[in-house]
Amino acid sequence: MRSILSLSSLLLSAVLVSPAFAALRPIEFAEAARPVSGAVVLPVGKDGLLTGLAQQIDEVANGAVGEAIRLAKFKGENDQSLVLYGVGPFEAVLLVGVGEALRTAVDLRSFGAVAAKGTAGWPIDVKVVVPDGADVEHDAAEAALGARLGEYHFGKWAMPKSMNSSPGSVLVWLAPQPAKSKMLFQREGEAIAAGVWFARDLISTPSNIKSPEWFAEQVRQQFKGIPKVTVTVLDERRIQSLGMGALYGTGQGSVRPPRLVAIEYRGGKSDEAPFAFVGKGVTFDTGGISIKPADGMWRMRTDMSGAAAAAGAVLTLAKREAPVNAVAVLALAENMPDGNAIRPGDVLTSMSGKTIEVLNTDAEGRLVLADALWWAQDTYKPRLAVTIATLTGAVVRALGSDHAGVFTQDDVLADRVIAAGEAAGERLWRLPVTAGTIKAIKSDIADVKNISDGGSAPGASVGAAFIMEWAKPDVPFVHIDIAGTAWDSSGRPTEPKGAVGFGVRLLDELVRR
Ligand code: BES
Ligand code: MN
Ligand code: ZN
Repeated sequence: MRSILSLSSLLLSAVLVSPAFAALRPIEFAEAARPVSGAVVLPVGKDGLLTGLAQQIDEVANGAVGEAIRLAKFKGENDQSLVLYGVGPFEAVLLVGVGEALRTAVDLRSFGAVAAKGTAGWPIDVKVVVPDGADVEHDAAEAALGARLGEYHFGKWAMPKSMNSSPGSVLVWLAPQPAKSKMLFQREGEAIAAGVWFARDLISTPSNIKSPEWFAEQVRQQFKGIPKVTVTVLDERRIQSLGMGALYGTGQGSVRPPRLVAIEYRGGKSDEAPFAFVGKGVTFDTGGISIKPADGMWRMRTDMSGAAAAAGAVLTLAKREAPVNAVAVLALAENMPDGNAIRPGDVLTSMSGKTIEVLNTDAEGRLVLADALWWAQDTYKPRLAVTIATLTGAVVRALGSDHAGVFTQDDVLADRVIAAGEAAGERLWRLPVTAGTIKAIKSDIADVKNISDGGSAPGASVGAAFIMEWAKPDVPFVHIDIAGTAWDSSGRPTEPKGAVGFGVRLLDELVRR
């Protein structure tokens, strides 16, 4: 067994790199000629229906595939799969259910992930038949992206399973014009995968390694040499001298001081206002003096998932050379109880001058975001400001792990963000911020307090209402609470168990629209 000590020194000695990118299973695209041998993946429709190229392949096998489908009672439901060996001239066939049809990019990614996972470790090249559709080139590229997203593994102290496959085994996606798919995959798919993987790596790293300073350093390394990107890191002295009392106060119980990181990508016109993604980056949340119970506290190593999503989204935008300006602002602090920590009842002054009565030191995400949002608006005059954060347990209770909470006073913006989430496969549900909720955070001794008293105010909305106190009236603003969606304890085709990287695809899609 590996000891914690050697594990942490191993991790400390290595700069975080997307662990398996170099050793990923090769992806290629080839013309959709009918394969007559080898290993193939076939999409199977509802009730075992084979169509198009899959049907032709069955003809090559004299109907043996169709026969096997019947005998196995394979229903072709979405993401269902079955391996057949030695049917007709084929060494191996993986059947992947596609149900009625795969219509959206999200469906295709899921199909690609199941195809890749089901053939991991196969010793020979695998040809994947992409389901019939109006734009098979695009569909093949999306499926290949799904394969990449699904094969993520935080390979630090365990090697990824997909690495067991022999290096020669290539996943070949069939399309009439493979060059087109390849271009799409390299320009778009790889950029999305890079952003999601970067976020997942950051989230997966344990907090003995992951200090605010370490996080900032990972960002520097990751963006080094990427054109049109500038990374700025503000240290604790700068944070304090700028008057960010809320961010500074949150971090002051930790021996590892806070950081504010800005990742600026200028792919658009020089005079165009940027999108600003402000992420909660609490590298560990003990609750502070209002300490959390021991059970499940380990999960709070993921309390920087908002910052990871913001950073990952800008990485994706920069890698795909999106013609926009965008900036990620990461509010990094560790929330620890200590002789120097802030106490319940303390009053902090934020950068805007607004004062905060801290009634619960565990409501710290809103504190760090208040200053980071203000600084982002002040510095960049953004066209849209988004805060993204693992902010409340209340949103987990309300929406579970299928939807993130979305909060804004702008109905049009709400619809846009929800639609982008739908298209990106990262679902959102809108929750209100009412006048009553805004009133519930008025403080007797400061401008606002960081929790409402009594049990009647809706917790996720209270958090959103608090952050909105720092949103400037002329900047469109939306807050996204990803406390329930940042971590998946069961796993899905394109989101293996663990860090989801929730928000990267959503923010990228939002910018596209
Ligand atoms: N980081 C937590 C929220 C959280 C909970 C994230 C569960 C992921 C899973 C946040 O800082 C927090 O502690 N929120 C408190 C706020 C309360 C004190 C008003 C909560 O939700 O209990
Ligand atoms: Mn907390
Ligand atoms: Zn927190």
